Amino acid sequence: MYSSDLINKFKTFQTPFYYYDLGLLRLTLETLKKEADKYGYNIHYAVKANANEKIMRLISSYGFGADCVSGNEVLKAYECGFEPSKIVFAGVGKSDGEIISALKCGIFCFNCESVQEIEVINSLALSLGKTAQIALRLNPGIDAHTNQKINTGLADSKFGIDFNLLEDTIKEISDFKNIKLIGLHYHIGSQILDFEPFKLLCERSNEMQEKLLALGYELPEINLGGGLGVDYYNPEENPVPEFQKLFSLINQNLKVRKGQRVHFELGRSVVAQCGKLISKVLYIKPARETNFAILDAGFTDLIRPALYGAYHKIENLTSQSSETKIYDVVGPICESTDVFVKHLELKGTSRGDLLSFSSAGAYGEIMASQYNLRKLPNVYYSDNE
Ligand code: LLP
Repeated sequence: MYSSDLINKFKTFQTPFYYYDLGLLRLTLETLKKEADKYGYNIHYAVKANANEKIMRLISSYGFGADCVSGNEVLKAYECGFEPSKIVFAGVGKSDGEIISALKCGIFCFNCESVQEIEVINSLALSLGKTAQIALRLNPGIDAHTNQKINTGLADSKFGIDFNLLEDTIKEISDFKNIKLIGLHYHIGSQILDFEPFKLLCERSNEMQEKLLALGYELPEINLGGGLGVDYYNPEENPVPEFQKLFSLINQNLKVRKGQRVHFELGRSVVAQCGKLISKVLYIKPARETNFAILDAGFTDLIRPALYGAYHKIENLTSQSSETKIYDVVGPICESTDVFVKHLELKGTSRGDLLSFSSAGAYGEIMASQYNLRKLPNVYYSDNE
């Protein structure tokens, strides 16, 4: 799927580098907007997936909101054109400083994960003469059927307030004068491709709504979080995720009362497919059972395989060989976990070949580190071609 012009361009760039196809990002954003608008759904881009300024500015230009998990993400979202009235702030451990800066920024809503956190937000809001809008993040006790390292909605997860404690929590916070409870929030996990958990989430949300009504609360906001998965195996065939399928399933299963608004916090599905990591082969080392293809990119540049055992499609862009061989594709970091994939069949690969990692736009650049005092990769965009 790479044109020879693009590959020739890549040959002139300093490796390793991230490459963003902004045309694909635009197509993804247009599709997302069209599908969300059908139901009047509110989308907040989950900044944690990719906080590259150019990417964020492009996303904010479509009028989406932002979902942030740190004070710096809130500030960055604001700087990149996201309206404060569309910024939500989640996280189990918001520091006082982060809460104060978000209050000053005038964000839409704090997604709160404990009574103690709400108490702190209340007192900080009081000291600033403000009222903070909050949503309770409930842990719905749902298995998202995804990689266990990114499954967040189960009872033993640190995230959210046990849904069984909704009533108690509401009672405990009812005296706080500088907060306004406006909704409930959930997030069950990431890279979800089996839609059944989203259906269960709707059922849990409906049940919680009934509970709230019985307590005399009609809250205007329902936030279902993020989690929609992407196709890591066939990224060219499925470059745009299944927004339509997700939203129509939610529309069919979620009970929404008059005046209520539904929110999503999508990260991966917005940016994963538009980004690639391109790396050069430094050395080929034959071993007893494999050949090591040693690259100039390592887990410092794309940590998902080492951290979660995640799969990214790898292709040799420049091999002239007509034969294939088996390789362990590894990085240069001094750690044995710096392995992208074992026993991969690739076209005959030699020193100097360029390898591409697909679907690296989400949780790629943003999770890069300088371990081993490595330089962070360069970034190039299709628009500069
Ligand atoms: N909302 C909340 C509260 C979250 O914790 C997350 C992701 C999202 C939204 C966005 O989820 P998404 O639409 O991107 O699935 N680094 C891992 C993924 C960690 C996800 C953390 N939370 C990975 O590379 O797979």
